[in-house]
Amino acid sequence: MSVAHDINAVAPVPLARPRLITVDEAKRLEPKTVADLFVAHMNPGQLHFMKLLGFHKIIVERAEGPYYFERGGRKILDFFGGFGSLAFGHNHPRILEARRKFAEEQRHDIGMAFLSQYAAALSANLAAISPGDLDFVFLGSTGSEAMEAAVKVAERAQGPRRSKIVYAENAFHGKTKGVLSITDSKLYQSEFRLVPGHVKVPFGDLQAIERVIAADPEIGIVVLETVQGGAGIVEADAAFWQGLRALCDRTGVLWVADEVQCGVGRTGRFYAFEHAGVVPDVTALAKSLGGGKAAVGAMIARGDIYKRAYGTSKTAMIHAAATFGGMGEACVTSIEALNVLYDEDLIGNSERVGAYLKARLVEVQKKYPRLIKEVRGRGLMIGLELQDFSTALPFGIRQLVSTLDDKLKGSLAGFLGNLLMRDYGILVAFTEYNRNVIRLEPPLVIGREHVDTFVDALDDLLSRGVVKIVTDFLRGQRAN
Ligand SMILES: Cc1ncc(COP(=O)(O)O)c(C=O)c1O
Repeated sequence: MSVAHDINAVAPVPLARPRLITVDEAKRLEPKTVADLFVAHMNPGQLHFMKLLGFHKIIVERAEGPYYFERGGRKILDFFGGFGSLAFGHNHPRILEARRKFAEEQRHDIGMAFLSQYAAALSANLAAISPGDLDFVFLGSTGSEAMEAAVKVAERAQGPRRSKIVYAENAFHGKTKGVLSITDSKLYQSEFRLVPGHVKVPFGDLQAIERVIAADPEIGIVVLETVQGGAGIVEADAAFWQGLRALCDRTGVLWVADEVQCGVGRTGRFYAFEHAGVVPDVTALAKSLGGGKAAVGAMIARGDIYKRAYGTSKTAMIHAAATFGGMGEACVTSIEALNVLYDEDLIGNSERVGAYLKARLVEVQKKYPRLIKEVRGRGLMIGLELQDFSTALPFGIRQLVSTLDDKLKGSLAGFLGNLLMRDYGILVAFTEYNRNVIRLEPPLVIGREHVDTFVDALDDLLSRGVVKIVTDFLRGQRAN
Protein backbone atom coordinates (compact mmCIF):
# COMPACT_ATOMS: atom_id res chain seq x y z
CA MET A 1 0.00 0.00 0.00
CA SER A 2 1.44 3.35 -0.96
CA VAL A 3 1.67 6.04 1.69
CA ALA A 4 -0.59 8.27 -0.39
CA HIS A 5 -3.46 5.83 0.13
CA ASP A 6 -3.05 5.67 3.87
CA ILE A 7 -4.98 8.71 4.94
CA ASN A 8 -3.85 8.37 8.55
CA ALA A 9 -0.22 8.55 7.44
CA VAL A 10 -0.62 12.08 6.07
CA ALA A 11 0.04 14.77 8.64
CA PRO A 12 -2.92 17.15 8.82
CA VAL A 13 -2.11 20.47 7.19
CA PRO A 14 -3.86 23.31 8.97
CA LEU A 15 -6.16 25.18 6.58
CA ALA A 16 -4.90 28.69 5.98
CA ARG A 17 -7.48 31.14 7.25
CA PRO A 18 -8.16 33.75 4.59
CA ARG A 19 -7.85 37.34 5.77
CA LEU A 20 -11.49 38.12 6.38
CA ILE A 21 -12.91 41.52 7.16
CA THR A 22 -14.84 41.43 10.43
CA VAL A 23 -18.18 43.13 11.02
CA ASP A 24 -16.55 45.82 13.14
CA GLU A 25 -13.92 46.45 10.49
CA ALA A 26 -16.63 46.64 7.81
CA LYS A 27 -18.44 49.32 9.80
CA ARG A 28 -15.24 51.39 9.94
CA LEU A 29 -14.08 51.10 6.31
CA GLU A 30 -13.00 54.40 4.76
CA PRO A 31 -14.91 55.66 1.68
CA LYS A 32 -11.84 55.22 -0.51
CA THR A 33 -11.43 51.57 0.62
CA VAL A 34 -15.12 50.87 0.03
CA ALA A 35 -14.81 52.30 -3.48
CA ASP A 36 -11.71 50.18 -4.13
CA LEU A 37 -13.47 47.02 -2.91
CA PHE A 38 -16.52 47.90 -5.02
CA VAL A 39 -14.30 48.19 -8.10
CA ALA A 40 -12.30 45.05 -7.31
CA HIS A 41 -15.20 42.79 -6.36
CA MET A 42 -18.54 44.23 -7.38
CA ASN A 43 -19.30 46.46 -10.34
CA PRO A 44 -16.42 48.64 -11.56
CA GLY A 45 -18.45 50.32 -14.31
CA GLN A 46 -21.13 51.45 -11.90
CA LEU A 47 -18.69 53.61 -9.98
CA HIS A 48 -18.68 55.99 -12.95
CA PHE A 49 -22.34 56.87 -12.30
CA MET A 50 -21.76 57.18 -8.58
CA LYS A 51 -18.97 59.66 -9.31
CA LEU A 52 -21.14 61.72 -11.64
CA LEU A 53 -23.67 62.06 -8.87
CA GLY A 54 -20.96 62.64 -6.30
CA PHE A 55 -22.29 59.77 -4.17
CA HIS A 56 -19.11 57.67 -4.20
CA LYS A 57 -17.62 59.43 -1.17
CA ILE A 58 -20.69 59.13 1.01
CA ILE A 59 -20.69 56.47 3.70
CA VAL A 60 -23.90 56.25 5.67
CA GLU A 61 -23.31 55.67 9.37
CA ARG A 62 -26.93 55.23 10.40
CA ALA A 63 -30.45 56.03 9.28
CA GLU A 64 -33.64 57.05 11.02
CA GLY A 65 -37.07 58.02 9.66
CA PRO A 66 -36.61 59.99 6.45
CA TYR A 67 -32.91 60.66 7.13
CA TYR A 68 -29.55 59.10 6.46
CA PHE A 69 -26.71 60.24 8.71
CA GLU A 70 -23.43 60.40 6.89
CA ARG A 71 -20.21 59.55 8.71
CA GLY A 72 -19.17 62.86 10.14
CA GLY A 73 -22.76 63.67 11.04
CA ARG A 74 -24.31 65.30 7.95
CA LYS A 75 -28.03 64.64 7.76
CA ILE A 76 -29.39 63.60 4.34
CA LEU A 77 -33.12 63.90 3.66
CA ASP A 78 -34.23 60.83 1.70
CA PHE A 79 -36.66 61.72 -1.11
CA PHE A 80 -35.50 58.68 -3.08
CA GLY A 81 -36.81 56.13 -0.59
CA GLY A 82 -35.01 53.15 -2.15
CA PHE A 83 -37.28 53.24 -5.23
CA GLY A 84 -40.32 52.91 -2.99
CA SER A 85 -38.84 50.45 -0.49
CA LEU A 86 -38.97 52.77 2.48
CA ALA A 87 -42.64 53.48 3.16
CA PHE A 88 -41.89 53.23 6.89
CA GLY A 89 -38.70 55.27 6.73
CA HIS A 90 -35.45 53.92 8.07
CA ASN A 91 -35.49 51.82 11.22
CA HIS A 92 -39.09 52.39 12.26
CA PRO A 93 -39.04 51.82 16.05
CA ARG A 94 -41.98 49.41 16.12
CA ILE A 95 -40.51 47.33 13.30
CA LEU A 96 -37.12 47.30 15.04
CA GLU A 97 -38.75 46.23 18.30
CA ALA A 98 -40.65 43.36 16.66
CA ARG A 99 -37.41 42.12 15.13
CA ARG A 100 -35.46 42.54 18.35
CA LYS A 101 -38.03 40.55 20.34
CA PHE A 102 -38.17 37.85 17.69
CA ALA A 103 -34.38 37.39 17.88
CA GLU A 104 -34.29 37.59 21.68
CA GLU A 105 -36.93 34.90 21.97
CA GLN A 106 -34.79 32.73 19.71
CA ARG A 107 -37.62 32.18 17.25
CA HIS A 108 -36.77 30.25 14.13
CA ASP A 109 -36.25 31.71 10.68
CA ILE A 110 -35.92 28.63 8.55
CA GLY A 111 -38.23 25.73 9.19
CA MET A 112 -39.32 24.46 5.84
CA ALA A 113 -40.30 21.08 7.29
CA PHE A 114 -43.04 22.70 9.40
CA LEU A 115 -46.01 24.96 8.94
CA SER A 116 -44.96 28.53 9.73
CA GLN A 117 -47.25 30.53 11.98
CA TYR A 118 -45.49 33.69 10.73
CA ALA A 119 -45.92 32.99 7.00
CA ALA A 120 -49.54 31.95 7.56
CA ALA A 121 -50.27 35.14 9.51
CA LEU A 122 -48.62 37.39 6.92
CA SER A 123 -50.56 35.67 4.12
CA ALA A 124 -53.81 36.10 6.06
CA ASN A 125 -53.03 39.80 6.59
CA LEU A 126 -52.36 40.31 2.89
CA ALA A 127 -55.64 38.57 2.05
CA ALA A 128 -57.46 40.79 4.58
CA ILE A 129 -55.99 43.94 3.02
CA SER A 130 -56.49 42.89 -0.61
CA PRO A 131 -59.88 43.63 -2.17
CA GLY A 132 -62.16 41.08 -3.85
CA ASP A 133 -61.07 37.48 -3.71
CA LEU A 134 -57.33 38.13 -3.88
CA ASP A 135 -56.85 35.58 -1.13
CA PHE A 136 -53.97 33.26 -1.98
CA VAL A 137 -50.41 34.30 -1.29
CA PHE A 138 -46.97 33.14 -2.38
CA LEU A 139 -44.08 34.57 -0.36
CA GLY A 140 -40.64 35.24 -1.78
CA SER A 141 -37.82 37.69 -1.29
CA THR A 142 -37.80 40.10 -4.25
CA GLY A 143 -40.08 41.92 -6.63
CA SER A 144 -38.76 39.90 -9.55
CA GLU A 145 -39.56 36.68 -7.72
CA ALA A 146 -43.06 37.90 -6.86
CA MET A 147 -43.64 38.86 -10.50
CA GLU A 148 -42.30 35.52 -11.75
CA ALA A 149 -44.79 33.84 -9.41
CA ALA A 150 -47.57 36.12 -10.70
CA VAL A 151 -46.88 35.32 -14.34
CA LYS A 152 -46.54 31.61 -13.59
CA VAL A 153 -49.79 31.31 -11.63
CA ALA A 154 -51.62 33.04 -14.48
CA GLU A 155 -49.96 30.81 -17.08
CA ARG A 156 -50.77 27.63 -15.13
CA ALA A 157 -54.37 28.73 -14.70
CA GLN A 158 -54.78 29.52 -18.37
CA GLY A 159 -53.01 26.46 -19.71
CA PRO A 160 -50.44 26.28 -22.50
CA ARG A 161 -52.84 27.31 -25.25
CA ARG A 162 -53.55 30.69 -23.66
CA SER A 163 -50.16 31.51 -22.21
CA LYS A 164 -49.12 34.45 -24.38
CA ILE A 165 -48.65 37.73 -22.56
CA VAL A 166 -49.53 41.30 -23.44
CA TYR A 167 -47.21 43.80 -21.79
CA ALA A 168 -46.51 47.51 -22.11
CA GLU A 169 -43.93 49.74 -23.70
CA ASN A 170 -41.46 50.99 -21.10
CA ALA A 171 -42.51 48.28 -18.66
CA PHE A 172 -40.21 47.24 -15.83
CA HIS A 173 -41.03 43.97 -14.09
CA GLY A 174 -37.58 42.81 -12.96
CA LYS A 175 -34.39 41.29 -14.28
CA THR A 176 -34.79 37.53 -13.74
CA LYS A 177 -35.15 35.86 -17.11
CA GLY A 178 -38.90 35.29 -17.20
CA VAL A 179 -39.94 38.82 -16.31
CA LEU A 180 -36.96 40.31 -18.13
CA SER A 181 -38.71 39.06 -21.28
CA ILE A 182 -41.58 41.47 -20.57
CA THR A 183 -39.34 44.28 -19.30
CA ASP A 184 -39.11 46.73 -22.17
CA SER A 185 -35.45 47.64 -22.03
CA LYS A 186 -32.90 46.92 -24.72
CA LEU A 187 -30.18 47.58 -22.15
CA TYR A 188 -31.46 45.08 -19.58
CA GLN A 189 -32.51 42.48 -22.17
CA SER A 190 -29.11 42.85 -23.81
CA GLU A 191 -28.53 39.72 -25.91
CA PHE A 192 -30.02 37.25 -23.45
CA ARG A 193 -32.13 34.45 -24.85
CA LEU A 194 -35.57 35.53 -23.70
CA VAL A 195 -38.74 33.60 -23.00
CA PRO A 196 -40.94 33.85 -26.11
CA GLY A 197 -44.69 34.41 -26.25
CA HIS A 198 -45.47 38.06 -25.67
CA VAL A 199 -46.83 41.10 -27.46
CA LYS A 200 -46.03 44.70 -26.61
CA VAL A 201 -48.59 47.53 -26.66
CA PRO A 202 -48.43 51.21 -25.69
CA PHE A 203 -49.14 51.71 -21.96
CA GLY A 204 -52.72 52.77 -21.24
CA ASP A 205 -54.01 51.95 -24.74
CA LEU A 206 -57.11 49.79 -24.27
CA GLN A 207 -57.87 49.55 -27.97
CA ALA A 208 -54.41 48.20 -28.67
CA ILE A 209 -54.93 45.48 -26.05
CA GLU A 210 -58.36 44.72 -27.51
CA ARG A 211 -56.88 44.41 -30.98
CA VAL A 212 -54.09 42.01 -30.02
CA ILE A 213 -56.44 39.84 -27.99
CA ALA A 214 -58.87 39.66 -30.92
CA ALA A 215 -56.06 38.80 -33.33
CA ASP A 216 -54.40 36.06 -31.29
CA PRO A 217 -56.39 33.41 -29.39
CA GLU A 218 -53.24 32.33 -27.56
CA ILE A 219 -53.16 35.56 -25.59
CA GLY A 220 -54.37 34.81 -22.08
CA ILE A 221 -52.53 37.24 -19.79
CA VAL A 222 -52.07 41.02 -19.55
CA VAL A 223 -49.23 42.20 -17.31
CA LEU A 224 -49.05 45.89 -16.37
CA GLU A 225 -47.53 48.06 -13.68
CA THR A 226 -50.41 50.08 -12.29
CA VAL A 227 -48.14 53.11 -12.24
CA GLN A 228 -45.10 52.78 -14.47
CA GLY A 229 -42.11 53.65 -12.31
CA GLY A 230 -39.11 53.10 -14.56
CA ALA A 231 -40.88 54.81 -17.45
CA GLY A 232 -40.96 58.07 -15.49
CA ILE A 233 -44.00 57.81 -13.18
CA VAL A 234 -46.63 57.28 -15.86
CA GLU A 235 -50.28 56.65 -15.01
CA ALA A 236 -53.29 55.47 -17.00
CA ASP A 237 -56.70 56.92 -16.15
CA ALA A 238 -59.44 55.11 -14.21
CA ALA A 239 -61.43 54.52 -17.42
CA PHE A 240 -58.53 52.49 -18.82
CA TRP A 241 -58.43 50.15 -15.81
CA GLN A 242 -62.20 49.80 -15.74
CA GLY A 243 -62.17 49.06 -19.47
CA LEU A 244 -59.36 46.55 -18.99
CA ARG A 245 -61.30 44.76 -16.25
CA ALA A 246 -64.38 44.54 -18.49
CA LEU A 247 -62.30 43.38 -21.45
CA CYS A 248 -60.61 40.66 -19.39
CA ASP A 249 -63.97 39.49 -18.05
CA ARG A 250 -65.37 39.36 -21.57
CA THR A 251 -62.45 37.48 -23.10
CA GLY A 252 -61.27 35.32 -20.18
CA VAL A 253 -57.87 37.00 -20.21
CA LEU A 254 -56.19 37.33 -16.79
CA TRP A 255 -54.96 40.73 -15.60
CA VAL A 256 -51.73 40.71 -13.57
CA ALA A 257 -51.10 44.03 -11.77
CA ASP A 258 -47.47 44.73 -10.84
CA GLU A 259 -47.68 46.76 -7.62
CA VAL A 260 -44.10 46.10 -6.54
CA GLN A 261 -43.24 49.80 -6.58
CA CYS A 262 -46.61 51.55 -6.39
CA GLY A 263 -48.19 49.27 -3.75
CA VAL A 264 -48.16 49.32 0.07
CA GLY A 265 -49.79 52.74 0.30
CA ARG A 266 -47.41 54.64 -1.94
CA THR A 267 -50.10 56.34 -4.05
CA GLY A 268 -52.57 56.99 -1.23
CA ARG A 269 -54.33 53.62 -1.49
CA PHE A 270 -52.85 50.30 -0.40
CA TYR A 271 -52.89 49.24 -4.06
CA ALA A 272 -52.77 51.85 -6.83
CA PHE A 273 -55.47 49.96 -8.77
CA GLU A 274 -57.92 50.79 -5.96
CA HIS A 275 -58.11 54.36 -7.28
CA ALA A 276 -60.01 52.92 -10.27
CA GLY A 277 -62.32 50.76 -8.13
CA VAL A 278 -61.38 47.54 -9.93
CA VAL A 279 -59.55 44.37 -8.87
CA PRO A 280 -57.01 42.43 -10.93
CA ASP A 281 -56.78 38.63 -11.04
CA VAL A 282 -53.25 38.48 -9.71
CA THR A 283 -50.99 41.09 -8.14
CA ALA A 284 -47.47 41.36 -6.73
CA LEU A 285 -45.86 43.36 -3.93
CA ALA A 286 -42.29 43.70 -2.67
CA LYS A 287 -40.10 46.70 -1.73
CA SER A 288 -41.89 48.36 1.22
CA LEU A 289 -43.55 45.08 2.17
CA GLY A 290 -40.30 44.30 3.98
CA GLY A 291 -40.73 47.33 6.25
CA GLY A 292 -37.36 48.68 5.09
CA LYS A 293 -35.60 45.93 7.07
CA ALA A 294 -36.27 42.62 5.31
CA ALA A 295 -36.43 41.19 1.81
CA VAL A 296 -40.07 40.23 1.27
CA GLY A 297 -42.00 39.82 -1.96
CA ALA A 298 -45.51 38.46 -2.35
CA MET A 299 -47.74 37.28 -5.16
CA ILE A 300 -51.44 37.47 -4.34
CA ALA A 301 -53.91 35.65 -6.58
CA ARG A 302 -57.66 35.17 -6.70
CA GLY A 303 -58.55 31.92 -4.98
CA ASP A 304 -60.03 30.23 -8.06
CA ILE A 305 -56.97 31.08 -10.14
CA TYR A 306 -54.55 29.81 -7.51
CA LYS A 307 -56.53 26.61 -7.15
CA ARG A 308 -56.64 26.08 -10.92
CA ALA A 309 -52.85 26.44 -10.98
CA TYR A 310 -51.67 24.63 -7.86
CA GLY A 311 -54.79 23.54 -6.00
CA THR A 312 -54.31 19.76 -5.77
CA SER A 313 -51.70 17.61 -4.05
CA LYS A 314 -50.37 16.74 -7.50
CA THR A 315 -49.84 20.37 -8.48
CA ALA A 316 -49.11 21.89 -5.07
CA MET A 317 -45.33 21.67 -5.32
CA ILE A 318 -45.00 23.05 -8.86
CA HIS A 319 -44.33 26.51 -7.50
CA ALA A 320 -44.11 26.19 -3.72
CA ALA A 321 -41.92 28.62 -1.76
CA ALA A 322 -38.19 28.77 -2.40
CA THR A 323 -35.64 28.43 0.43
CA PHE A 324 -36.03 31.98 1.70
CA GLY A 325 -39.77 32.37 1.03
CA GLY A 326 -41.59 33.11 4.27
CA MET A 327 -38.60 33.24 6.61
CA GLY A 328 -39.61 33.88 10.22
CA GLU A 329 -38.10 37.28 10.98
CA ALA A 330 -38.88 38.59 7.49
CA CYS A 331 -42.56 37.65 7.93
CA VAL A 332 -42.72 39.17 11.40
CA THR A 333 -41.16 42.35 10.02
CA SER A 334 -43.87 42.50 7.35
CA ILE A 335 -46.66 41.69 9.79
CA GLU A 336 -45.57 44.56 12.06
CA ALA A 337 -45.07 46.88 9.09
CA LEU A 338 -48.61 46.27 7.82
CA ASN A 339 -50.00 46.93 11.30
CA VAL A 340 -47.97 50.16 11.51
CA LEU A 341 -49.26 51.20 8.08
CA TYR A 342 -52.84 51.27 9.42
CA ASP A 343 -52.14 52.28 13.04
CA GLU A 344 -50.24 55.37 11.88
CA ASP A 345 -52.53 56.08 8.91
CA LEU A 346 -49.54 56.16 6.58
CA ILE A 347 -51.75 55.58 3.53
CA GLY A 348 -53.82 58.67 4.40
CA ASN A 349 -50.62 60.57 5.11
CA SER A 350 -49.30 59.57 1.70
CA GLU A 351 -52.42 60.95 0.05
CA ARG A 352 -52.42 64.23 2.02
CA VAL A 353 -48.70 64.99 2.06
CA GLY A 354 -48.43 63.80 -1.54
CA ALA A 355 -51.12 66.25 -2.62
CA TYR A 356 -49.23 69.03 -0.81
CA LEU A 357 -45.95 68.02 -2.47
CA LYS A 358 -47.55 67.98 -5.90
CA ALA A 359 -49.22 71.36 -5.36
CA ARG A 360 -45.94 72.93 -4.25
CA LEU A 361 -44.09 71.43 -7.21
CA VAL A 362 -46.71 72.76 -9.62
CA GLU A 363 -46.00 76.24 -8.18
CA VAL A 364 -42.27 75.72 -8.80
CA GLN A 365 -43.05 74.55 -12.32
CA LYS A 366 -45.02 77.78 -12.96
CA LYS A 367 -41.97 79.73 -11.79
CA TYR A 368 -39.54 77.82 -14.01
CA PRO A 369 -41.54 76.63 -17.04
CA ARG A 370 -38.37 76.51 -19.15
CA LEU A 371 -36.81 74.05 -16.72
CA ILE A 372 -39.73 71.90 -15.54
CA LYS A 373 -41.94 70.27 -18.15
CA GLU A 374 -44.44 68.32 -16.04
CA VAL A 375 -45.29 67.20 -12.52
CA ARG A 376 -46.93 63.76 -12.50
CA GLY A 377 -48.13 61.05 -10.15
CA ARG A 378 -50.10 60.85 -6.94
CA GLY A 379 -49.56 60.20 -3.29
CA LEU A 380 -45.85 60.00 -2.58
CA MET A 381 -44.97 58.65 -6.02
CA ILE A 382 -44.23 61.81 -7.95
CA GLY A 383 -42.31 62.37 -11.17
CA LEU A 384 -40.80 65.70 -12.07
CA GLU A 385 -40.07 65.78 -15.78
CA LEU A 386 -37.50 68.37 -16.78
CA GLN A 387 -37.15 70.13 -20.09
CA ASP A 388 -34.48 69.00 -22.53
CA PHE A 389 -32.02 71.83 -22.09
CA SER A 390 -29.37 70.61 -24.55
CA THR A 391 -29.78 73.63 -26.80
CA ALA A 392 -29.95 76.17 -23.96
CA LEU A 393 -26.30 75.81 -22.97
CA PRO A 394 -23.41 77.77 -24.47
CA PHE A 395 -21.52 75.56 -26.95
CA GLY A 396 -18.34 75.19 -24.86
CA ILE A 397 -20.18 73.94 -21.77
CA ARG A 398 -22.31 71.63 -23.89
CA GLN A 399 -19.15 70.03 -25.28
CA LEU A 400 -17.65 69.66 -21.82
CA VAL A 401 -20.76 67.99 -20.48
CA SER A 402 -20.96 65.45 -23.30
CA THR A 403 -17.37 64.35 -22.69
CA LEU A 404 -18.35 63.46 -19.12
CA ASP A 405 -21.27 61.22 -19.96
CA ASP A 406 -23.66 60.73 -22.83
CA LYS A 407 -26.69 60.62 -20.56
CA LEU A 408 -26.04 64.08 -19.16
CA LYS A 409 -26.29 65.75 -22.55
CA GLY A 410 -29.87 66.95 -22.49
CA SER A 411 -30.77 65.82 -19.01
CA LEU A 412 -30.87 68.26 -16.15
CA ALA A 413 -31.81 65.51 -13.68
CA GLY A 414 -28.24 64.32 -13.03
CA PHE A 415 -27.01 67.86 -12.34
CA LEU A 416 -29.88 68.57 -9.98
CA GLY A 417 -29.40 65.24 -8.19
CA ASN A 418 -25.72 65.97 -7.71
CA LEU A 419 -26.24 69.50 -6.41
CA LEU A 420 -29.26 68.70 -4.24
CA MET A 421 -27.03 66.24 -2.41
CA ARG A 422 -23.90 68.36 -2.34
CA ASP A 423 -25.38 71.72 -1.41
CA TYR A 424 -28.63 70.82 0.40
CA GLY A 425 -28.16 67.27 1.73
CA ILE A 426 -31.17 65.90 -0.16
CA LEU A 427 -31.28 62.57 -1.99
CA VAL A 428 -33.46 62.13 -5.10
CA ALA A 429 -33.59 59.42 -7.77
CA PHE A 430 -34.09 59.11 -11.51
CA THR A 431 -36.15 56.79 -13.68
CA GLU A 432 -34.69 53.95 -15.73
CA TYR A 433 -35.97 54.83 -19.16
CA ASN A 434 -36.56 58.55 -18.98
CA ARG A 435 -33.39 60.08 -17.58
CA ASN A 436 -34.98 63.49 -17.49
CA VAL A 437 -37.42 62.58 -14.76
CA ILE A 438 -36.64 63.04 -11.09
CA ARG A 439 -38.38 60.29 -9.17
CA LEU A 440 -39.68 61.28 -5.75
CA GLU A 441 -40.65 58.39 -3.51
CA PRO A 442 -39.95 59.58 0.04
CA PRO A 443 -40.97 57.53 3.07
CA LEU A 444 -44.70 57.74 3.83
CA VAL A 445 -43.83 58.95 7.34
CA ILE A 446 -42.81 62.42 6.14
CA GLY A 447 -44.74 65.58 6.97
CA ARG A 448 -45.27 68.92 5.26
CA GLU A 449 -42.07 70.24 6.85
CA HIS A 450 -40.00 67.71 4.89
CA VAL A 451 -41.81 68.68 1.70
CA ASP A 452 -41.01 72.33 2.42
CA THR A 453 -37.32 71.54 2.98
CA PHE A 454 -37.16 69.70 -0.33
CA VAL A 455 -39.19 72.13 -2.44
CA ASP A 456 -37.43 75.22 -1.01
CA ALA A 457 -34.06 73.63 -1.84
CA LEU A 458 -35.19 72.77 -5.37
CA ASP A 459 -36.53 76.29 -5.87
CA ASP A 460 -33.27 77.80 -4.63
CA LEU A 461 -31.22 75.51 -6.88
CA LEU A 462 -33.31 76.23 -9.98
CA SER A 463 -33.02 79.97 -9.32
CA ARG A 464 -29.31 79.66 -10.18
CA GLY A 465 -30.27 79.13 -13.84
CA VAL A 466 -29.10 76.37 -16.17
CA VAL A 467 -25.62 77.71 -16.90
CA LYS A 468 -24.72 78.18 -13.25
CA ILE A 469 -26.21 74.78 -12.33
CA VAL A 470 -24.04 73.07 -14.94
CA THR A 471 -20.88 75.03 -14.12
CA ASP A 472 -21.37 74.36 -10.39
CA PHE A 473 -21.66 70.67 -11.23
CA LEU A 474 -18.55 70.73 -13.44
CA ARG A 475 -16.54 72.43 -10.72
CA GLY A 476 -17.49 69.64 -8.31
CA GLN A 477 -16.51 66.97 -10.85
CA ARG A 478 -13.04 68.48 -11.16
CA ALA A 479 -12.64 68.10 -7.40
CA ASN A 480 -13.56 64.36 -7.54
C1 LIG B 1 -42.65 47.65 -10.91
C2 LIG B 1 -41.52 46.75 -10.53
N1 LIG B 1 -41.65 45.44 -10.69
C3 LIG B 1 -40.67 44.58 -10.35
C4 LIG B 1 -39.48 45.04 -9.82
C5 LIG B 1 -38.39 44.09 -9.44
O1 LIG B 1 -38.18 44.10 -8.08
P1 LIG B 1 -36.77 43.58 -7.46
O2 LIG B 1 -35.73 44.60 -7.80
O3 LIG B 1 -37.03 43.49 -5.99
O4 LIG B 1 -36.49 42.27 -8.06
C6 LIG B 1 -39.31 46.41 -9.63
C7 LIG B 1 -38.04 46.94 -9.09
O5 LIG B 1 -37.70 48.07 -9.22
C8 LIG B 1 -40.36 47.29 -9.99
O6 LIG B 1 -40.23 48.61 -9.85
